[in-house]
Amino acid sequence: MNRRNFIQSVAYSTLITGLGSSIPIIGRSANTSQMSLIGKSHRFGDGRDWFFEKRYGMFVHWGLYSILGWHEQHQQRARVPRAEYVKLAQRWNPINFDPERWLDLMEEAGMEYITVTMKHHDGFCLWDTKQTQFNTMNTPYRKDILGMLSDACHKRNMPLCLYYSIADWNHPNYPNMGRHHELPVQSQDSPDWQKYMEFLKAQVKELCTNYGEIHGFWWDMNVPEYEDKSINNMIRKLQPKAVINNRGFDEGDYGTPERDFNEKNYISSDSQPVEACQSVGIESWGYRTNEDYYTQQHLISSIDRYLARDANYLLNVGPDSLGVIPEKSASILRGIGQWYHSVKESFEDVEFVSHLTTNKNVMLTKNKNVLYVHLYKVPQGNVVKLKPFTIAPLDAVLLNDGSKVDFEVEFAPQDHNEQQSYLRLINLPVKAYCNSVLVLKLVFDESLEEYISAIV
Ligand code: GLC
Repeated sequence: MNRRNFIQSVAYSTLITGLGSSIPIIGRSANTSQMSLIGKSHRFGDGRDWFFEKRYGMFVHWGLYSILGWHEQHQQRARVPRAEYVKLAQRWNPINFDPERWLDLMEEAGMEYITVTMKHHDGFCLWDTKQTQFNTMNTPYRKDILGMLSDACHKRNMPLCLYYSIADWNHPNYPNMGRHHELPVQSQDSPDWQKYMEFLKAQVKELCTNYGEIHGFWWDMNVPEYEDKSINNMIRKLQPKAVINNRGFDEGDYGTPERDFNEKNYISSDSQPVEACQSVGIESWGYRTNEDYYTQQHLISSIDRYLARDANYLLNVGPDSLGVIPEKSASILRGIGQWYHSVKESFEDVEFVSHLTTNKNVMLTKNKNVLYVHLYKVPQGNVVKLKPFTIAPLDAVLLNDGSKVDFEVEFAPQDHNEQQSYLRLINLPVKAYCNSVLVLKLVFDESLEEYISAIV
C-alpha cells in the first residue's frame, strides 16, 4: 500500500467490541491536516545518501572562546575589543585533546557522524590554513586540529563534517557593519566583499583537499544573504559525498532547524531533508564553565520527535580549553546513548504514521506489520489508549529494556459514546523511565495493512 492509499481511504468496517457485540464504525484519521506531510523526504541517489543511514550526530563548538568558558560568541556578546580577543591565541594549548577520546564517547553514545567548528564567527581557524595567521599553528599548541581529527575519523570510518562561519570578526576584508552576528564597523578594517570571498574560497578549497574524505559542509551566518552557487559546486566537485546545509550561498541539501522542535518543521516527500541541531547546554554551544544543562528527558524527547519524522539530529557539546568534553555533557550523551541503542529500530526503515491515532500524546512509526509507539511527552498515566485501533497485537515489547508490555482491547468508561473497545497498552513502567522516552514495539499479524486502510 502506498501513502496515497493511507491518505485517501476512508472505510466502513465492522469491529468486535469488548462487550461481544458487533458495532459498525466509520474509522477516521485524527489529524487529516497532517496527512500530506507524512512520509520521507527525497533521497539524493548518490554518495550523499550516507546521511539517511546515519541519523544522529555529534556537533562540536570549539575554539579560543573555550578559554574564557562563557559563550562561543564571547567576543561580540561581552564587547571584547578585537585587539584583546586575539591575544587568546597565545593561550591556546589544548594539550589533552585526543580525537580518539571524542570518538570513543560518540560510539558509546550511539552517535554516527561528527560536525566540528573549523572557524566560528571569531575567525580563529582550527586547521593549518595558509590564508590567515589566526590559526592553531600560530599558538603554543602548534598542531593541526583538523589533521588529527580527520586521521582519527578516517581510521574508524566516522563521517566528518565541517562547520564554517561566513561572518568573520577578525578578517579585515569582512564587512562588519553591526548587523546581527557582526561586530560594529572596525575603523582599522578595509571591507572588501570580493576579496573576502577569495579568502573564503581558498579556505574552503584547503578544507576540501587537504584532509581526505569530508562528509559534509555546515555553513553558518551568511549575514549579507549573498548568493553564489559556484561555492557549493566546488565543494561537490572536490567532495562528492559531502552534504551541504542551507545556511550558505544557496539552498544546499538540507534544512537546519535550531534548538527545538518546531511545528513547522514537518517533513514531506517534496521538502528538503532536515537536520535539527541542539546543544546539551541551555545558554551556550561553546564551553561554559557554569553551564545549565537540559534534562535528559527534554533532549531525548526532542531527538525522538525529529528522528521519527525522518530527520537527522546533531547534538552539540563544547569541549573545554584543554580539549576535553566536560564530564557533565559526556554523561548526558551516555544516558541518551543507552536509550538510542535500545530504541533505534523504531527509526529505521519506518514511515511516520501518527495520523493513525487520535492520541496526540504519542507518535507512531511503522515498518510493515510492526508499529512503534513513542511516548514523547511526559506520560500522564501508565496507560496508552490507541484509538481507533480495535485489534490486538500478537506481541508487545518495551524497547527500552526488552520487557513485555501488557495490553487489552477493552471497553473503557470514557468511550461510552462510541460504545467501542479500543487497544490499550497498560501497566507501563512510566516511573522507572521518567527521565527518558518509552518506545513500545507492537507486532501485528500480516493483516495490519488491510486493517489500517480500513480505519483511515
Ligand atoms: C546559533 C548560535 C551560534 C551557533 C549556531 C549553531 O546560531 O548563535 O553561535 O554556532 O547556533 O547552529
